[in-house]
Amino acid sequence: MAFPPQFLEELRTRLALSDVVGKRLRLIRAGREYKAPCPFHNEKSPSFYVNDQKGFFHCFGCGAHGDIIGFVMRHDNLAFPEAVEALAGEAGMPVPRATEEDKQRYERRKTLHDLVEQAARWFEQQLYAPAGRAGLEYFQRRGLDTDGMARFRLGFAPGDSGALRGQLLKQGFSEEDMVTAGLLKRPEDGRTPYSFFRNRVIFPVTDRRGRVVAFGGRILEGDGPKYVNTADTPLFHKGTLLYGLSRARQAAADGKPVIVAEGYMDVIALVRAGFEGAVAPLGTALTETQIQELWKLIPDAEKVPFLCFDGDNAGRRAAWRAVERILPHLAPGHSARVAFLPEGEDPDSLIRLHGPRAMQEVLGEAIPLSEAVWRMETEGKPTGTPESKAAVKAALDSRVGQIADRDVQSFYRTEMRRRVDEAFAPPPRQRNDRGPWVPGGSWQGGGQGGRFGQQTRRHTPGLPGLRTAPPPGHRRRNPGNLAAARERVLLAVIINHPELFDELGESLGMLPFPDRELEELRQAVIGLLAERRENDSGLDAASLCRHLSSAGYDTIVRSLLSESTYVHAGFARPDASSLDAKRGWWPTWHHLHHRQVMADLREAEAALARDNSEANFARVVALQQEVIRSGMGMTDDEDLDDA
Ligand code: UTP
Ligand code: MN
Repeated sequence: MAFPPQFLEELRTRLALSDVVGKRLRLIRAGREYKAPCPFHNEKSPSFYVNDQKGFFHCFGCGAHGDIIGFVMRHDNLAFPEAVEALAGEAGMPVPRATEEDKQRYERRKTLHDLVEQAARWFEQQLYAPAGRAGLEYFQRRGLDTDGMARFRLGFAPGDSGALRGQLLKQGFSEEDMVTAGLLKRPEDGRTPYSFFRNRVIFPVTDRRGRVVAFGGRILEGDGPKYVNTADTPLFHKGTLLYGLSRARQAAADGKPVIVAEGYMDVIALVRAGFEGAVAPLGTALTETQIQELWKLIPDAEKVPFLCFDGDNAGRRAAWRAVERILPHLAPGHSARVAFLPEGEDPDSLIRLHGPRAMQEVLGEAIPLSEAVWRMETEGKPTGTPESKAAVKAALDSRVGQIADRDVQSFYRTEMRRRVDEAFAPPPRQRNDRGPWVPGGSWQGGGQGGRFGQQTRRHTPGLPGLRTAPPPGHRRRNPGNLAAARERVLLAVIINHPELFDELGESLGMLPFPDRELEELRQAVIGLLAERRENDSGLDAASLCRHLSSAGYDTIVRSLLSESTYVHAGFARPDASSLDAKRGWWPTWHHLHHRQVMADLREAEAALARDNSEANFARVVALQQEVIRSGMGMTDDEDLDDA
């Protein structure tokens, strides 16, 4: 039985190979790939690799190799059509049968693809022809050289409304198809169709596989809308595609941040500045489908897309609209950060004026969605009376109620409640925070009953009304102390949550601490927990503490598991949930890891200066890559709170 080729293509696009394999085997992440012990031959150590970008699996042990359908055929022992049906079920797609009509439609789409590609080439050529001079000069004025123009396949549509049609007819395409593809417009009175894009510079829009499917055209001078875009066609639906998508997919797989900007020129400027994960919607506000697409782009659950908006009022309103739209779809690992540009700038102008670093700073100061929700419901709202406070609380409640995922909703509820309490409550009296705290509460020395998690609320001193706190980038802290604080937080998390060692142990193992005392404790903790894991017997927090104490770490553990640590990081508390602890772990870890990689890089650069060898050079290059990668991880969640 034949399936429509388009359907098989869609199936392969919709399903990630790692998801399909991951439902059948336990996959371990290995850089950009996943690995597992091979299901097709007997082995202990994993030599079976899954690569989502390539859409293939490969076993270095037995040579088994294939795509998503091949995997299911072999693993589930199914024939081709059965495997396709099974996968369609997993993708939630109905299985079509290929009819003569389907095949024709497929052929036709192929023709349309060719047609649009030829048009793109023609627009490109026009840019360098005498007729395109104004377009070429326009792009030059905006700081693009010919390499840049070629990279984005920029073009020019001359004023002659019959030129493109004549050219494409000569190449054997039909007028009908040109109209269907949105290149020509047929007048009401039935006269000859004329060019839709005239006297405009052209931005080709490519689909997720990099094929040109549509165009945007910007006016140079005169009357008319600033931009016109291809209307929806069989190849192109503006609400499901993003400008820059195919490049961003690759970039995201390489660990670069995904950034949503507003316009074509912004994406171009961002990409040229090294932010290859930049995309933009196509003349509309971000749609739900586009939001889902952003999450699909990012392989790493710890990372989220950045939504960039102008710093002015219009930008803020656009940001809140986007937040509104995204809220219902939040789920574990599906979030976003909102970045605000300085007033009056867009990414294009910001980068031109202040360079890529300025953009990096904007991303560094991006706020998490929860902060955005808070700001959108509090900024500029009156809070002077009990009634107005209640109104703010109700508005927040109703926003949070839109989150469909139960867990995420409940964490948002807790977070908003905390913020409301903090903003509206009178400042609590100073209290002594240094009482030792050990899981189970059995070691409590001082007369401090109850749980710290409930007793102590983080307090922002003297919060003036409901004005928003300055963005995180404005804080200045002593880097040395901060690093030590982070190290203490990591140790507290793992001691309070030894059940997370399976997941977090490897990362802790990669990160030596410069402080000798903390380093010894780190090794002791790893030693104890790793040994227990070998023997398959767990260790709860209280017994881990007992072991550490009898091994001579009593004092440092006591000082570690105290308010002086928790005050920076609520997620390190013994009564924080495992999930919170884990969520808090990663940004903290990334900061320390980044610092370590930076130190390695400086050392490698010094070595290269002493001895200009190939090996030293390669090491510097590799570490530079690593610095970029590790830097990206840092900005993706909340870091330590200010005490
Ligand atoms: P902007 O007006 O911010 O344009 O619209 P821009 O990208 O910064 O363009 P330059 O820098 O002035 O050349 C942002 C996006 O909104 C869509 C386009 O996709 C544009 O890139 N747009 C804008 C339209 O579709 N039609 C319009 O008339 C204006
Ligand atoms: Mn602009």
